[in-house]
Amino acid sequence: MIGKNMNLKEEAAKKALSFVKSGMILGLGTGSTAAYFVDMLGEKISTGELVDIRGVPTSKETEVRARKWGIPIVRLGEYPKLSLAVDGADEVDPALNLIKGLGRALLREKIVEVHAEQFVVIVDDSKMVARLGTRDALPVEILPFEAEAHIRWLNTLGCRAELWTEDDSSPAVTDNGNYLVKCWFKEGIANAYELAQALSTRPGIVEHGLFLDMATKVIVAEDKNIRILEK
Ligand code: A5P
Repeated sequence: MIGKNMNLKEEAAKKALSFVKSGMILGLGTGSTAAYFVDMLGEKISTGELVDIRGVPTSKETEVRARKWGIPIVRLGEYPKLSLAVDGADEVDPALNLIKGLGRALLREKIVEVHAEQFVVIVDDSKMVARLGTRDALPVEILPFEAEAHIRWLNTLGCRAELWTEDDSSPAVTDNGNYLVKCWFKEGIANAYELAQALSTRPGIVEHGLFLDMATKVIVAEDKNIRILEK
């Protein structure tokens, strides 16, 4: 095992921290892997090893976490250029295209991460796939208005689309007040670019979890080593 007492997600987060320099404005991701990164960043700031760091969070949850560490929170309006964004992913394909959003934050993640000069993705090796959509569902954020109609349309795209619900069967609601749909593709997504294009032009579809041509680096933690993949 690499690093005693650390799991693979922590290892990936630790590696990403080595790309952070004092003075950077950072995009702060959401999910369990990104949470390790925020905690490690907070520790480095509290010991004074990193100074003058500011962060743009990709969810309310991450904002709360960052504030607990005293990481100064800023907005894209004021700081439109992020030096670096660090976030997890649900799937990574050989071209470094991603599925994100199973942590429910895909819209804010995409908004923040398109502003980053470098977008570093941190995953354990279970997230690596030959084809997107083969490991889990593609999450899609939809407008609650006429939600059933959006779900019916999503079902025409070669997938099984279902409203994401909580344990009590109520719809899962995002930080933006929207609903989420999970789209399962039996044999994965045949053409992610065509699908992304179709989803982007349909009214009622707010955003989708395909993050294409966005990652600049993917840090993959494996049992015995860490790989860094770059385009
Ligand atoms: C959040 O909406 C997602 O995009 C996460 O980045 C993704 O689900 C990875 O989550 P974990 O790091 O918890 O596996």
